[in-house]
Amino acid sequence: EKGGYDWFMLKEIDEQPQAVADTLLGRHDSAGRLVLDEMRLSDDELRGVDKIVIIGCGTASYAGMVAKYAIEHWTRIPCEVELASEFRYRDPIVGRSTLVVAISQSGETADTLQAIRHARQQGSKVLAICNTNGSTIPRESDAVIYTHAGPEIAVASTKGFLTQLAACYVLGLYLAQVRGTKYGDEISATVAELQKLPDGIRTILERADAVRELARELAGHRTFLFLGRHVGYPVALEGALKLKELAYLHAEGFAAGELKHGPIAVIEPGLPVFVVVPPKGRDQLHEKVVSNIQEIRARGARTVVLVEEGDTSVDPYADVVIRLPKAPTLLQPVLAAVPLQVFAAELASALGHDVDQPRNLAKSVTVE
Ligand code: M6R
Repeated sequence: EKGGYDWFMLKEIDEQPQAVADTLLGRHDSAGRLVLDEMRLSDDELRGVDKIVIIGCGTASYAGMVAKYAIEHWTRIPCEVELASEFRYRDPIVGRSTLVVAISQSGETADTLQAIRHARQQGSKVLAICNTNGSTIPRESDAVIYTHAGPEIAVASTKGFLTQLAACYVLGLYLAQVRGTKYGDEISATVAELQKLPDGIRTILERADAVRELARELAGHRTFLFLGRHVGYPVALEGALKLKELAYLHAEGFAAGELKHGPIAVIEPGLPVFVVVPPKGRDQLHEKVVSNIQEIRARGARTVVLVEEGDTSVDPYADVVIRLPKAPTLLQPVLAAVPLQVFAAELASALGHDVDQPRNLAKSVTVE
């Protein structure tokens, strides 16, 4: 059933263009308006939401971090993200006008399940973003947006993550549409950009040999850092988590803007540092990340830079450049995560580890 692949994870990485396309399928019309027939919350209920709290564990929580940037930008509804395991133990302030969004591939994660039970007891509406039809979390939620990734067998989430991102974008745009926010004009343009993502992922996968080669070359290192800013920050966290899970290595993700507040002290000659560069835009994010790359390069780090095609500004400071197809900043994580998945899988396999069943981990964590 691995379809000729050595590992399910590799098959699932390659299934991502289709999985993302399937998750977007039928969720917008030809004019770029969102259509969510399955949404069981009325427009009135959604218009009454004054706060969104997104919860999830591990990779799902990183999808939630990306979603926060997108949903706040498009809807202007204040949005918090929290690890599901932390949520209920701090007596969170949630109530009737709070929408809790629970993200879970399996739909069975105990931390997330307990968190939504708590939220519903407080009177909040819960919307699940889930990949498993009929699982417990969507059954106990008020509404659900299913991701259409198909079964994810490998413990390390790949297509689960990308389709969670796609579903979060759909949710954010749908909320913006229902509420008629000032970013309404961006909706159809963003839907058109979402449609391009499957091809963008395909392009990255076609170029993945270079990433695999890099993984084999770096297989002797014990520590890896990942830096990103804005939506690139959760991508950095995800890149580090993949490497921890699969290769049992010390890997850390940082917000690039935090470098000077501590992490730069650990930079030493030869240390591999992956950096996700945001597309050039009107804000100064891009220049700031480029200057971070200069700073770590000046301290001898080996820089692996993920950057949009056509952007050569980082070339002088990059030991390795991984080019990403063009996408708006908010959607870039769908592309930037892919080389990091490929890298972690290849490095783990170079080290002789079980890529699908890493030690100490289970696919769905049904105890708190
Ligand atoms: O099934 P869930 O999405 O609720 O699972 C959440 C995490 O346990 C999961 O994402 C975990 O972090 C993965 N092993 C990441 O690759």
